[in-house]
Amino acid sequence: MTSPQANTTNPKMITWINDLETLCKPTNIHWCDGSQEEYDRLCEALVEAGTFTRLNPELRPGCFLARSDPRDVARVEDRTFICSENEVDAGATNNWMEPADMRGTLDGLFEGCMEGRTMYVIPFSMGPLGSDIAQIGVQVTDSPYVVVSMRIMARIGSKVLDILGDNNFIKCLHSIGFPLGAGIEDVSWPCNPDNRYIVHFPEAREVISFGSGYGGNALLGKKCVALRIASVMARDEGWLAEHMMIVGVESPDGEKTYIAGAFPSACGKTNLAMLIPPEGFEGWKVHTVGDDIAWIKPGEDGRLYAINPEAGYFGVAPGTSMKSNPGAMDTMAKNTIFTNVALTDDGNVWWESMTDEPPAHLIDWQGEDWTPDCGRKAAHPNARFTAPASQCPSVDPEWENPNGVPISAFLFGGRLSTSFPLVYQSKDWAHGVYMGATLGSEATAAAENQAAIRRDPMAMLPFCGYNMGDYWKHWLSMQDKVAHLPVIFRVNWFRKTKDGDWLWPGFGQNMRVLQWVVDRVKGSVDANEIVCGDIPKYADINWNGLAYDQDTFDELMATDPAISILEVEDQTALFDKIGDHLPEEMKKIQKEMLEQLQ
Ligand code: GTP
Ligand code: SPV
Ligand code: MN
Repeated sequence: MTSPQANTTNPKMITWINDLETLCKPTNIHWCDGSQEEYDRLCEALVEAGTFTRLNPELRPGCFLARSDPRDVARVEDRTFICSENEVDAGATNNWMEPADMRGTLDGLFEGCMEGRTMYVIPFSMGPLGSDIAQIGVQVTDSPYVVVSMRIMARIGSKVLDILGDNNFIKCLHSIGFPLGAGIEDVSWPCNPDNRYIVHFPEAREVISFGSGYGGNALLGKKCVALRIASVMARDEGWLAEHMMIVGVESPDGEKTYIAGAFPSACGKTNLAMLIPPEGFEGWKVHTVGDDIAWIKPGEDGRLYAINPEAGYFGVAPGTSMKSNPGAMDTMAKNTIFTNVALTDDGNVWWESMTDEPPAHLIDWQGEDWTPDCGRKAAHPNARFTAPASQCPSVDPEWENPNGVPISAFLFGGRLSTSFPLVYQSKDWAHGVYMGATLGSEATAAAENQAAIRRDPMAMLPFCGYNMGDYWKHWLSMQDKVAHLPVIFRVNWFRKTKDGDWLWPGFGQNMRVLQWVVDRVKGSVDANEIVCGDIPKYADINWNGLAYDQDTFDELMATDPAISILEVEDQTALFDKIGDHLPEEMKKIQKEMLEQLQ
């Protein structure tokens, strides 16, 4: 039996879809063509089903609000598995299960799981259509919310099938796990929070996800394919798949320096990617290439080139405002899907810190009446907007260049409110890899059940699809493969005063750090050497337009040797966890740091 409307003759795909039809027992199959009409029809159906509320077309044209089940609001790291054939290849930082056992469990869960629903088949390309570096996947899902979101986040539809032909593709199977058997009524956000599984089979290049309809759990092209599966491909093929934003910083003389930066979830990638230079930076521009994921490959000229495999942004809403990130606000002015934000009385959206004064009345993210004194948050802290990258006012003309953009610097930054300086530069590549590998950050709402502070190596802890020690070795091996390596920096926008105020204004003001990074790349300023790395001289930061005195700067940059020793010693816990896959070089650098500090 061939599926209705199948517009492919790819035998592997047809067999796979037929098998899934037998297993999942959907009422219908819909092959997504990726057209605007299809998108509009699905959005209309989502409105009728109560999943979507259409926002005021005058205030937010083409925009919708979705409210998720309150139990399905973020990635679930404890339900995320790397089912490599050997446990050691998943490593100590990933959950692992024997692939055959896992497939057995999943077969049980998927049996009849799409009853009463439509099974959508979404061919998608991560990376520009037809480009050599792009990867093609096919996501099967029973969630129309996922289909419309995927149309924003990736290139989808018939044009992908045309390019794929009879070739292999990355299989991505997804179900919300809420079959509509006899007598069961649908709900506005169907999901199955007690049975969630986000599973990766790295050798088979396959993803299977069950029970959640939210974000990285469900939009499988993003974290599952473009990071967990792609990181394994990158290891095998000699490139890097990273949790990084990418920007082009243009100086007044028109020269562009591309910088990629890894920050853990909800730690400022989107803000930095869309930064608008503040007063005092006349003639400077920041161009957006990507806000979450970078695929980085060695080029023939001995440099590293990065592309953004995504086509849209799935960005954190709370904290975003015309003051903090006007570029993001403009990007989501139209054709955007908002999830778990609050609804205003005139059919617009609101979230914490969007305006100085909250509206007098809202419907909160759970659909309840909300007033400023009610003691609850109006938006969920992990509420997000899904918007097309093409709507970003600062989008780089090169953002879809299939060859990517040449990277001159890498930033690694966590959310650390005490003791970590604003910026410092690594001494060399290996030391920079060590700085990224030992990145620490405070918890955010992007994942459930997170420890207060945790090590998040290269911001990839939840996204590395293989052994973390091998991943560090892979980073170190770039020394032998790439003649002109980027310069590496650690940054921290989040240091606070003893009273709990931000010590650094952050947001657009981070431009001052970007300029120093560019100056260091060009070698036009020197730096002060301290044990942890090279730090800026006060006079080398461009302070035009900001009153920030040397004393405050010294406080911002201060490192206390006693605390630094504790920090370096604390890295041992992570190194021990990585065990015998830990590169020798990491321990050597740690030892040297300790000796110098003591
Ligand atoms: P994911 O999409 O989860 O991978 O995260 P992201 O790194 O893109 O996060 P995003 O940029 O959306 O970070 C959002 C949070 O960081 C918001 O709460 C912002 O207010 C806050 N933020 C971003 N930049 C800064 C900054 O420079 N200073 C301070 N204090 N907060 C910032
Ligand atoms: C993150 O958590 O790093 C995100 C959001 O970018 S999600 O796609 O839900 O993983
Ligand atoms: Mn992310």
